[in-house]
Amino acid sequence: MNSNSLVSIDDISRDEILDLLERARVFEQNPNHKILDGKVVATLFFEPSTRTRLSFETAVNRLGGRVIGFSDANTSSSAKGETLKDTIKMVSNYVDLIVMRHYLEGAARYATEVTDVPIINAGDGANQHPSQTMLDLYSIYKTQGTLENLTITMVGDLKYGRTVHSLLMAMRHFNPTFQFVACEELKMPKEYKVFCDQNGIRYTEHHDFSPEVINASDILYMTRVQRERFSDLMEYEKVKNLYTLHNSMLADSKPNLRVLHPLPRVNEIDVDVDDNPKAYYFEQARNGLYARQAIICKALGIDIYKELEKYPSK
Ligand code: CP
Repeated sequence: MNSNSLVSIDDISRDEILDLLERARVFEQNPNHKILDGKVVATLFFEPSTRTRLSFETAVNRLGGRVIGFSDANTSSSAKGETLKDTIKMVSNYVDLIVMRHYLEGAARYATEVTDVPIINAGDGANQHPSQTMLDLYSIYKTQGTLENLTITMVGDLKYGRTVHSLLMAMRHFNPTFQFVACEELKMPKEYKVFCDQNGIRYTEHHDFSPEVINASDILYMTRVQRERFSDLMEYEKVKNLYTLHNSMLADSKPNLRVLHPLPRVNEIDVDVDDNPKAYYFEQARNGLYARQAIICKALGIDIYKELEKYPSK
């Protein structure tokens, strides 16, 4: 296993998180340094994606590297029955880094066991989405000026939403208070509440998306109900529209409140929120470019400060 892989947010320390955030800030100042000249990165997406794949690929392209891969596994030989192990071993022959999204929890971890090429987990089932967490942390830091002592309200699909699972784990370093808003069927899984208890993280659980909950929040983290994880679509139909944020609901919210959403949204945020200055989800997605440039360079073992001196920006 290559120790530069990023499989779970729990694999990196508080200092490493803060270092990545600082590197993201450097890339935001100029995302076009050609420091990946000669590097080839594979993006293997066994599940659909817009932001994650395109921001990873943009990140590589803007840094002067090359990208190969697939956005639809049906166009790869996995459709002929090739195993994940064989796919990873084959692609490892061609590239310096693999970014992969897979529907099976643990797939990225497994991939690290069959190759020495670093792996970045771009989402594995309902488990983890660590690069999303880095851009979420960067967004929180940029909007709040700190990661410490914040009240973060997570709303929607807390059972299957891998982004909330990763973010919860990362925030353990920063003394958060969580409010979990979900219906019974989609509440935060026990293992993550045990994680909170073990790490001294305060949390409360709510069925109602009430003014009290909203007005106590620094960050409102909305999530989509993950239709693709339901084996019974009747169950999905019952819960899909339970929580929708409307602009009027933000009237008495804290001045510093920001609304985040990993996107795509379906019905969780009404479009009337989009013009509210507290809506931050589109900027959040843009931050993904800079966070992922930082992650890619770390995975490739590139000392960006040294390299940036050699490659003037264009
Ligand atoms: N946030 C996120 O993972 O979006 P995509 O599914 O479009 O990559």
